[in-house]
Order: sequence, then C-alpha cells, then structure tokens
Amino acid sequence: MNPTSDPGSEAVSPEGARPVARPQVVLGVSGGIAAYKACELLRRLTESGHDVTVVPTASALRFVGAPTWAALSGRPVATEVWDGVHEVPHVRIGQSADLVVIAPATADLMAKAAHGQADDLLTNTLLTARCPVVFAPAMHTEMWEHPATRDNVATLRRRGALVVEPAEGRLTGKDTGKGRLPDPGEIFELVVDLLTRARGTAAPVQDLAGRQVVVSAGGTREYLDPVRFLGNRSSGLQGVALARAAVARGADVTLVAANVALPDPAGAKVVRVETTAQLRDAVVVAAAGADAVVMAAAPADFRPANVSQAKIKKSGDGSAPALELVQNPDILHEISTRRVRPESVVVGFAAETGDDTGSVLDLARAKLARKGCDLLVVNDVSGGAVFGQPDNEAVILAADGAAVEVPRGSKAALAHAIWDQVAARLG
Ligand code: CTP
Repeated sequence: MNPTSDPGSEAVSPEGARPVARPQVVLGVSGGIAAYKACELLRRLTESGHDVTVVPTASALRFVGAPTWAALSGRPVATEVWDGVHEVPHVRIGQSADLVVIAPATADLMAKAAHGQADDLLTNTLLTARCPVVFAPAMHTEMWEHPATRDNVATLRRRGALVVEPAEGRLTGKDTGKGRLPDPGEIFELVVDLLTRARGTAAPVQDLAGRQVVVSAGGTREYLDPVRFLGNRSSGLQGVALARAAVARGADVTLVAANVALPDPAGAKVVRVETTAQLRDAVVVAAAGADAVVMAAAPADFRPANVSQAKIKKSGDGSAPALELVQNPDILHEISTRRVRPESVVVGFAAETGDDTGSVLDLARAKLARKGCDLLVVNDVSGGAVFGQPDNEAVILAADGAAVEVPRGSKAALAHAIWDQVAARLG
C-alpha cells in the first residue's frame, strides 16, 4: 500500500493475524448523467473494505449531490481546492491514493487531464497521484470519436493511465452507440484487479498495451427446433476473467460470448453468439488482426443434422424421434493452423480425466499437438467438474515442451497466469 496511506485505517487480515491497511481509493466523478451509476461503484468499493474519497467536479454535483457521496463514502466531500485548505487537500488526496478511478470521465475532464490543467480538486488530485489511474469514459458517440478526444485518450494512455473503452448501447437520448459507462460492477472488478496486482509493487504492468486479443467464453447451443437445443454447462466465468485481466493489462479485447449470462466486462468489445457456427465466424473475423486468441469457450462438437423449423411434436405411438448429429468445425484447430498473423499466440483449453490410453498430461500433450496451438490450459476434472465454480487450478502446457503449474486459486489468478505466458511469447 502507499506509505502515506492513512495509518489509522486498518482492517484485519482474513487469518485474523495482522492488521492490513485498507486500500485508499479516490473516486473522481465528472459531470455526466452516468454519475448516478458511480453510486453503485462507490457502494461496492466501501462494502468490500476500501476507504473511498469521492472527488466530484462542480458539474457532477448537478447530477448527484454532495450528501449522497458523503453518506455512501462516510467521508466529507469537496470539489474545490479552497475547502479545508489547512489540510492541503489538493496534494494530500492524490499523494495518499492507492488508486484513482474516474467514473464517469467526460470528454472535458479527459481534455483537462491530458493537458495537465488543474482548476479544481479533481484535476489537482490527478496531477499529484502516483498510483494507477483508471478513466471510465461516458459520452455521446460523436464526442468519443472526435479527433480531439481521440488525441487526449491516446495521450493519457501513453502516460500509463488505463482508459477503458466505453460500452455500446442505449445513450441518454433516443440514440444508441458507443459511449455508455461500463457496468459499475465490472468497473469495480477492474479496480480490484489493479489494486491486487499493485500490492507491494509499483504501478501494475500494462504489458498487453497496444495488443489486440480475442477471448471466447461460454457454451454453445445447437438447436433441434425453435425452442430446444443441445448445450453444455460452461458458465463463461473463466473466459470473462480472461477478458477482464487483459483489459487491466492494457489490451484491446474482443470477447466472443456464447450464451454467457454475465455482464459485459468493462472495456471489452463483446460479440454475443449462440451456436458453434456463429462462434466460429465471430472468432475467425476477430482473430484476423489479433496478437492472441484464447479459446476458453466450450463449443459443441456435434449439432443436429437437421433443425426443424416448427416445434417437434410427440408422435401418437409413443416412439421417440431419432437424433442424427453431424460434426462441428474445430475452431481452435482452424485458428491455429490457418493463422493470418504467423507470430500470433493461440491458446486452447482442455478438461481431461485420463484413461487407459494415458494420464491427463499425456492426453493433453497429444491434444496440444493435434490442435496446433501454442499453449494448452489443462484442467484435471477427474474429481468432478469445475463448471460455475469461482476457483480453478491448471497446468499450462506449451508447444515447446514447457509446463507451468498454476495452483488452486481464483479464475482471475489463472487468467493472469495465462496472460503472463502469452505476454512472454509476444515479446
Ligand atoms: N474447441 C474448438 N472447436 C470445437 C471444439 C473445441 O475450438 N468444435 C476448442 C475449445 O474451445 C478448447 C479446445 O478446443 O479450447 C479443446 O476442446 P475439447 O473439447 O477438449 O477438444 P476436442 O478436440 O473436442 O477433444 P475431445 O475429443 O477430447 O473432446
């Protein structure tokens, strides 16, 4: 934690042994209608043991008033450098922060930050902070796409700030497009990721900055008729963890999500699909310009040979319909063996139990060779499935013979272990 963090602010570690400093987070709020969504982010941060100082701009207070921020944070709220001058807040707040997150970040706030202007408490705080800084922009599409905003975003990113891409969807008026504030719960996940990786070190490494990565997640559905399908139990949690982790490391992320009932990770472009054919098409398009592709999805290997246009009815004689299946394309094999960019890194997953023909690792090595990918993340599922569980453990096998064991831990930890291997290979 930052050595200048408030020493009186402590929490007890999970083991109950030694008090640990509570992370000091500054939540900057600039003047956009999405300011109301920052209340949810604030609530999640305080409820999970973070000390949060909210620094709204004067315009932000036109959308959500100071009493709301003060009540939710349990701390006084100021917008100007002239409040409580004896405590030198324009310097102290930034200096003692472990992380600054601006949500929403307007075009105006980012323009000021890019040019080092400091005419209120938030912009002063940005100049004095030496910790990770995250901007979660929200604005109309035209403002986001304007060359002035593009330049300011590029400047902030070049200096090491994490500026997440806005989400697409309904905007304030009747229009839709890119510019929505990402889901507050997902901004929270990003903040936690950055704080976790920053613990005890300098600012977290954005070793995937400028890289385009594609992650597939979830399980496909193969329709029998308009209401029935063959599916599987993949939740998409590991794929979503991979997308979040890649955003936190600075990558430009496309998540191809097959039937994933989770919110879109902040900053990722999300393409939602249902069937293996749709998943294949979306992955092939996204992979064309990608530096890395991680196939964490569970595509069905087979689909019904014929899809009935009408709902299949029971026959009167009690007989069941015969189900004829045909094989689906192997997306991982296709992506690995027909690379548009030969230097790209392709990663597959394999859940194995081992059998008479070989151990889990024997079968996984054979699969790695068969698929033609660079890395294969192997789960030993002999003791039961991992679907929908928060934890995972795995071995990451490499085509060059290397093997990295990742001990049981969160799916976020496994995601980072995978990106460590990918980043090392991208050089
Ligand atoms: N995969 C794929 N396309 C498919 C099936 C699987 O791209 N049609 C990918 C998965 O996303 C995963 C990897 O291949 O990354 C391994 O999947 P798995 O089902 O273990 O591979 P199979 O070749 O189907 O092997 P098995 O015969 O053991 O089921």
